[in-house]
Amino acid sequence: MSALPPPETCDFHGLPALRLTAPDGATALISHHGAQLLSWIPAGGAERLYLSESAVFDGRQAIRGGVPVIFPQFGGKGKLRHGFARELPWEVVAARTGKDYATATLRLTDGEATRALWPHVFVAEMTVLIAGNRLDMELEVENADDKPCAFTAALHTYLRVQEVENVALQGLQGLRYRDQTDRNKEDTDRQEALVVEDELDRLYLGVKKPLLLSHPGGGAIAMEQEGFPDTVVWNPWEKKCAALKDMPRDGFRRMLCVEAAAAARPVTLEPGDTWFGRQTLVAL
Ligand code: BG6
Repeated sequence: MSALPPPETCDFHGLPALRLTAPDGATALISHHGAQLLSWIPAGGAERLYLSESAVFDGRQAIRGGVPVIFPQFGGKGKLRHGFARELPWEVVAARTGKDYATATLRLTDGEATRALWPHVFVAEMTVLIAGNRLDMELEVENADDKPCAFTAALHTYLRVQEVENVALQGLQGLRYRDQTDRNKEDTDRQEALVVEDELDRLYLGVKKPLLLSHPGGGAIAMEQEGFPDTVVWNPWEKKCAALKDMPRDGFRRMLCVEAAAAARPVTLEPGDTWFGRQTLVAL
């Protein structure tokens, strides 16, 4: 049997990236910068992730779109806002094409710069696996220090949509959420499906069931998460989008972030312990 070609390293807007191609035709593109997935095309399908046309690829700031890895702080202000993981180069530690899948793992460890912001010794690994119509993303964090650490994290998934006002997100009914546009006011979602008609920034708590994002004529995406207790649903809408320099003015119409997150309460790890969080997307 001839060996399957391994994933290739390529240049994407001047940054090194890894292109995964599964034997069934599914593809993914992962930037070493941030271990950020920038493209996912399921077998026989079309692009499912949103990547801003105005994204900046300077190897320093986070890339607007795809799946930024948020670690060790979700949200907040200052230098640690949404963490440093999305602003640093990760190292590819494994990449392989199997009989019916392709996968890669990238690693980030602490250095002087990370310890100045967050004083911990850690090993973080991001694994992406594509197979057919399925995408698995897993973030693993090991506390390699001799003291406990606490962090928040997320896979900040930007889903591509044709027109955000036409999509419906199901699976959140009955859940408590914090409205991050309104001083984290807590409420219960009573709607059968979430429809985006304005700025939306909600942190849903205790999300255990799968979610379904559907849009007329555009296919659907089912999403499941494990290890991440929360889900953030975000769309900046017109005004906030216009203030984002790395997004076109109508960019908010083409995306919806559905983020698997451990954000409401920090994850605490004892020395030597490991945590993982996974988000799975299935294109329907
Ligand atoms: C979401 C937050 O996760 O990320 C929003 O809930 C935030 O409040 C958004 O605006 C984008 O953040 P950033 O730092 O990538 O512009």
